[in-house]
Amino acid sequence: MMQNHKMDTEDAIKRWDSLADALTAKYTEQGDVHREVLLNRVLLSLLGSVKDKRILDAGCGEGYFSRILAEKGAEVVAVDYSQKMLDIARKRTSAGYAIQYYHGNVEDLPFLESETFDVIVSNMVLQDLSGYKEAIQEMYRLLIKGGVFIFSISHPCFITAESGWVKENGKKLFWKVNHYFEEGVFEQPWPKNAQNGILLFHRTLTSYFKTIKETGFAVEEVVEPKPSQEMIQKYPEFEGDLRMCQFLVFKVKKQIVAD
Ligand SMILES: C[S@@+](CC[C@H](N)C(=O)[O-])C[C@H]1O[C@@H](n2cnc3c(N)ncnc32)[C@H](O)[C@@H]1O
Repeated sequence: MMQNHKMDTEDAIKRWDSLADALTAKYTEQGDVHREVLLNRVLLSLLGSVKDKRILDAGCGEGYFSRILAEKGAEVVAVDYSQKMLDIARKRTSAGYAIQYYHGNVEDLPFLESETFDVIVSNMVLQDLSGYKEAIQEMYRLLIKGGVFIFSISHPCFITAESGWVKENGKKLFWKVNHYFEEGVFEQPWPKNAQNGILLFHRTLTSYFKTIKETGFAVEEVVEPKPSQEMIQKYPEFEGDLRMCQFLVFKVKKQIVAD
């Protein structure tokens, strides 16, 4: 159920700080298993060549995606609001990577100059903060004209308060969704058995789309990632991801408007 008291980005970040070690313990150079199976392939194909591009990784976490981008020749600025996540990112990044890490809230990054990034990537961050409109507007400010913003979020039509598999004798019958039109914050049952789990700020697909459009972005692509057969063979537990969709990925472009 939605929480009935006000929770904001600051509450959310305290939880990221306290859960950072546990949440990143199983990360490999591909991130966690959801990133390996569902997200990385989509993000990289939407990005195309990143060589010599200046890229902002907004909400970089422990930094695996920044490192992938730097290995592919990008110059990366990586920002996260959790000091603990940044400490882990710095430890996992060896010298020689073209990555600058900064502590900052992606809703407002006054230390970064306007129109200085070719591309911005934000992997699974916008559903974790209260000011998504401010964050999308801030990304717009930071991009050059014609620059692209690629972001993934929990799929708002499937991941809601009280969503999940309905099972019978351990068999997945169907995926249930509840409270779709109730925008607000709820505590996720993640990580399992955590006292204070990660917060999810739910808003409808319409709200995301409206904000993107009103900010001045044009939508170039929308992708709902599905596991490949190869990935299902490697991780059979992802078979259910052919019946529902956990993530949604947008590629939007800052339009070049005549002055
Ligand atoms: C689901 S993790 C994703 C991390 C990384 N992008 C990845 O894919 O592994 C969400 C990250 O967003 C960060 N975050 C949440 N709200 C933020 C904000 N307002 N500004 C910057 N980072 C934020 C959290 O600290 C956390 O590291």
